[in-house]
Amino acid sequence: MLRIVVCVSGGGTNLQAIMDAIDEGRITNTEILAVISNNERARALERARSHGIRSLCISPRSYPDRETFNRAFTDRMTELAPDMVVLAGFLVRIPPQMVHAFSNRIVNIHPSLIPSFCGVGYYGLKVHEKALERGVKVTGATVHFVNEGMDEGPIIAQKPVMVEQDDTPESLQRRVMEEAEWVLLPRVIDDIANGRLEIRGDHVYHR
Ligand code: GAR
Repeated sequence: MLRIVVCVSGGGTNLQAIMDAIDEGRITNTEILAVISNNERARALERARSHGIRSLCISPRSYPDRETFNRAFTDRMTELAPDMVVLAGFLVRIPPQMVHAFSNRIVNIHPSLIPSFCGVGYYGLKVHEKALERGVKVTGATVHFVNEGMDEGPIIAQKPVMVEQDDTPESLQRRVMEEAEWVLLPRVIDDIANGRLEIRGDHVYHR
């Protein structure tokens, strides 16, 4: 059984997709131990609670500096001892000590085809604003392992989404979620839970 902790910051639609996929048997062998948010007003926390899943809030704002937060967050995660951490719209940088403690055991979903529109400053709606500004015709979503860089770890899976001429950042965000994110993230979790992925160096292969 793959025991996971899901980290969230906002709406929690990706969390919802994971919970639904577990309920419907599209993700097997997996249990959500807890949901962690940095924002106590996140809708995602309500979604977790109404699903009977333990939910916790840990915010950098409650700590005097980033290093103290990093230590507290890593300690909390170590206590929970998940097999894997899933970043589902989590907008806080993962502490380096947590990356090391959970090497190749933290996955993130990003709403673009990495290496486009990623890195510092590219999160949420901003990613889609930049994609539309650049005039790309195809965008999508990426699930990757987290390393110390920002959106730089080994890519696990990607799914393209066509940009439409009259797209707004909001309409594009919604389609990327519906057509890519909510499909891709549950599929990757199921692949990991059932031993279908293999990491060799910086590359991820399907067995
Ligand atoms: C999602 O689009 C996710 O890909 C993005 O935030 C949104 C969260 O939505 N993540 C990032 O931009 C990370 N760099 P949700 O809370 O409804 O799942």
